[in-house]
Amino acid sequence: MTPPQTVSPTTHDRVIVESFLGDGEHRTLADDVLDGLTRPFKELPPKHFYDAHGADLFDRICELPEYYPTRCERAILEQRSAEIVERTGAAELVELGSGTAAKTRLLLSAMHEAGTLNRYVPIDVTEGMVRDSAARLVEEFDGLRVHGIVGDFERHLGRVPEPVDGRPRIVAFLGGTIGNFTPGSRRRFLRGLSQLLGPDDFLLLGTDLVKDPAVLEAAYDDSAGVTAAFNRNVLTVLNRELDADFAVDAYEHVAFFDRDREWIEMRLRAQRPQRVTVGKLGLRLTFAAGEELRTEISAKFTPERISGDLAAAGMELVETLTDQDGLFALTLARIRAA
Ligand code: AVJ
Repeated sequence: MTPPQTVSPTTHDRVIVESFLGDGEHRTLADDVLDGLTRPFKELPPKHFYDAHGADLFDRICELPEYYPTRCERAILEQRSAEIVERTGAAELVELGSGTAAKTRLLLSAMHEAGTLNRYVPIDVTEGMVRDSAARLVEEFDGLRVHGIVGDFERHLGRVPEPVDGRPRIVAFLGGTIGNFTPGSRRRFLRGLSQLLGPDDFLLLGTDLVKDPAVLEAAYDDSAGVTAAFNRNVLTVLNRELDADFAVDAYEHVAFFDRDREWIEMRLRAQRPQRVTVGKLGLRLTFAAGEELRTEISAKFTPERISGDLAAAGMELVETLTDQDGLFALTLARIRAA
């Protein structure tokens, strides 16, 4: 194993933050653009939405009346965290894509109340988020230790530290972000996640559920236009990071529920023919009038889809918790006994 690229001097003796991000990150964006924008059906992975402005826009999405997933997931955690903690006996919480750790606090509180809380391991690409939440949480929960990983959960799962003294842990992947994977890579990713789980550990997985398409589509095409701005922001990221010249306003926000695949798709549709230069890549692109670029899929789940995916990844479902309207699910799973 190569050593972490930076182990920062700890500002607090209960906080460690390791960063595994380097120049590689720019290459990822460049590769994704070279790969995705030269295909017959143009496509970009959704992870590039989240520069500082994109992260702000996403926070605003979470407050929108139409966007129910965040509220529903929080409601489940408010009502059932104590039960989750009791069931798992967890001393440690590992969280993928931890962000501001807003919902995490509910789980950490329950662990604290139960007297089991020992360590929090957040993994996020945004170093500031990892550091700020670490600093706040060690103040808030006495005795808590934080081992933050600044990295990409698609590439750095192997950097998650071993559990302390083999005590049980919860690996949480919240928000429905698992929906961003296509079905095959979703199962592959879950299999990788299952490798973090010992026999006493649990996965806590947030999934948005299949429901009335009108409700789903409104959540991804809000009346205030915040999701549209979030979608177009990816072009601003390309303009800035790769010296591209997308005319951002020439692209229309498109969001629809694909009933066969049971996922939401977001696209950007060129309203007029476009010529684009991506300076740093020496790449020239054209868009025909009406041509679309797919920017995100967000899969929606049925109970069968959840249990089928878990089984394919060598896990079994322990319990599914939903909000009172049945819009969103939190599933507790563990590795399948041999
Ligand atoms: C962060 C991936 C869970 O798919 O609902 C919100 C992102 N995109 N509105 C989702 C998103 C448009 C969100 N996830």
